[in-house]
Amino acid sequence: MVETLRVELGDRAYDIRIGDGLIKRVGAEIAPLLARPRVALVSDENVAALHLETLRAGLADAGIDMVSLVLPAGEATKAWPQFTRTVEWLLEQKIERRDVVLAFGGGVIGDLVGFAAAVLRRGVRFVQIPTSLLAQVDSSVGGKTGINAPQGKNLIGAFHQPSLVLADIGVLGTLTSRDFLAGYGEVVKYGMLGDLDFFAWLEINGPALAAGDMALRAEAVRRSCQAKADIVARDETEQGDRALLNLGHTFCHALESATGYSDRLLHGEGVAIGSALAFEVSARLGLCSQEDPSRVRAHLRNMGMKVDLSDIDGDLPDAEALIALMGQDKKVMDGAIHYIMVRGIGQAFVTSDVDEAVVRTVLEQALAAR
Ligand code: GLY
Repeated sequence: MVETLRVELGDRAYDIRIGDGLIKRVGAEIAPLLARPRVALVSDENVAALHLETLRAGLADAGIDMVSLVLPAGEATKAWPQFTRTVEWLLEQKIERRDVVLAFGGGVIGDLVGFAAAVLRRGVRFVQIPTSLLAQVDSSVGGKTGINAPQGKNLIGAFHQPSLVLADIGVLGTLTSRDFLAGYGEVVKYGMLGDLDFFAWLEINGPALAAGDMALRAEAVRRSCQAKADIVARDETEQGDRALLNLGHTFCHALESATGYSDRLLHGEGVAIGSALAFEVSARLGLCSQEDPSRVRAHLRNMGMKVDLSDIDGDLPDAEALIALMGQDKKVMDGAIHYIMVRGIGQAFVTSDVDEAVVRTVLEQALAAR
């Protein structure tokens, strides 16, 4: 069964299609968007090795030709060199303004290709075909595109909405358990920030979903995408509510920077650890009860996820250095870090009114426990 959600953005509205086997029928799915039966696709080595021929056959079934560029897998791809290569390749392939570019991969590919589509000939349409859980529930939806700068993550980019998102939950079966659980960090984030019922549903169903139950996976992706679509429709360019999606991300970005954006810490793992820290700081500030961070941590532990700074291998800088890295975040305004804090599970809000001494103490204690 395929479910369709709509991201309501006026003349830039689009569908998110969620189901098993969408890659096989990709030609039929995207044909209505095409002015001519030819697409350019960008993927990475890992995804291409597993799924590119299936996708090519799916396009061929609808008489659509494909040219493809396969980039190295990994976060290092999301930077100027591979971005320049991608844009120039699309130009060499004579991709025109009315054409459609396909982004086939996880968050790195979706962000980079979306940004390439945003600037190519001042903007061409693109379709997100996310293959990681993280990309299916977060990065493929909402039009944030971009690359990393030496100064920090996602600092170069544009808002450019896709014309369609095809989330084939069948491909999640090829993810490693670590990658799946990293993506689950973004799933549980929706419960933690705005939906206590969803959090409670995940407490019950999370383990079976991680073990491979397809119906539960579809339900988790659907509920996550619906939450994201609702927020993006309200606040496309992050003037308000969209910032709630950054729960745990200020801590996460500092930890990713401190670990060199390496596989010591995957983004979704950092989101889980960062969310646990955000709940702890909120409890210390008296914003929520101490049971809330305990309940969040218990669920993440039960899922076998990273929860604490002690779950990160190798050295970490001290609390002061981590706070300095947090100050590099995009969410800094007029020099003040904007935190996403919580009044309880499902009740996140944005504030710059956070006593830095409390953040420092929480980080010092978390580091001391390593
Ligand atoms: N990943 C956060 C957002 O799309 O706003």
